[in-house]
Amino acid sequence: MKPIRIFLIAGARPNFMKLKPVYEKLSEQDRFDVKIIHTGQHYDYNMSRAFFEDLNMPEPHFYLGAGSGTHARQTARIMTLLDELFDSEMPDWIFVFGDVNSTIAAALTAVKRGIKIAHVESGLRSFDMSMPEEINRILTDRISHLHFVTEPSAIDNLLREGHSPDSIKWVGNTMIETLISVIPIARRRFEDLSRKFEIKEKGYALLTLHRPSNVDSREKLEQIIGAIRPHAARFPIIFPVHPRTSRKLHSIDTGEIRLVEPMRYVDFVSLQMHARFVMTDSGGIQEETTYLKVPCLTLRENTERPITVEIGTNILVGTEPERISVYMRRALEGKLNLRARTPRFWDEKVSDRIISNFIEAL
Ligand code: UD1
Repeated sequence: MKPIRIFLIAGARPNFMKLKPVYEKLSEQDRFDVKIIHTGQHYDYNMSRAFFEDLNMPEPHFYLGAGSGTHARQTARIMTLLDELFDSEMPDWIFVFGDVNSTIAAALTAVKRGIKIAHVESGLRSFDMSMPEEINRILTDRISHLHFVTEPSAIDNLLREGHSPDSIKWVGNTMIETLISVIPIARRRFEDLSRKFEIKEKGYALLTLHRPSNVDSREKLEQIIGAIRPHAARFPIIFPVHPRTSRKLHSIDTGEIRLVEPMRYVDFVSLQMHARFVMTDSGGIQEETTYLKVPCLTLRENTERPITVEIGTNILVGTEPERISVYMRRALEGKLNLRARTPRFWDEKVSDRIISNFIEAL
């Protein structure tokens, strides 16, 4: 019998760790012919290749080299390049991950070719249509045949949108499965990192910012940095700067906030694990800190990952300077009073659940 051809399609930094366990488990089975397609949405060494190295992943089988651009141009380029690949290499199924432009571009290209789509990390909703990721999530789910979800809110969202219950599979979080696998190495890495950054366990905070709503306007970014800056004079704050953010940041007074290059995956996990607290507008970091039980101050007004607030260590602080300052002070004094439970299925068996549900659905 001919194997079922499956393309796993990824393009941006947070996709790679979600893909890895799925790739490994699918590849173990002779009945599947599995290929990794890298769209090239992220292309800097630190944003892409370093992740493949850290995760011990094979080179992508196909690299499309789409690169940056406006949303429409980037999405269109990924679609064109992928469609050309489909001219010679037609999969039976594609797997897409998360909510980035590569996710919707791949799904839209595949569905018109009659290729089936499995969406990993389906159903999350921020209910904020000004976020490009929210548009990508809703549209990708609309045209996917299988919806693999990380938390119960996603099931409710998908059902409300009219998706068939049979298509929805609560499997857990593949990003956490990958995280668990690197924790021992990340723990060992801290010795080097603490020397390099002159920090001690729980003696520093970690900051990331890259959401367009926070970093595309200089005024907004300055407001957030202005709230954080005074604390950095007394307590080390390490800030790996995303390429999108660095464009506006160079004209802003960052005081003693320690700006560093985007980090390798294992190093970043290590710094999360050992931080007193983390401040971020990322989706994935809200989840990773919940698993690691490290307090997370989320500098956004909403989250598509409500479980991290309900049972995890996440607090939706927003971006109002006074609130940022108040919560930073509480975090520094250890007065956040957080619950810290691990969401169901956020474990090392997520990809097993995905594969068994996938096989059942074939
Ligand atoms: C994308 C995702 C976002 C995800 C983030 C993680 C979308 C809509 N957004 O946002 O959900 O959280 O990745 O990083 O897909 N750039 C480089 N080098 C790179 C990649 C990007 O310099 O390797 C610069 C480019 O100038 C580019 C800008 O960063 O224009 C933004 O990159 P892009 O991939 O469009 O979106 P992100 O902001 O990274």
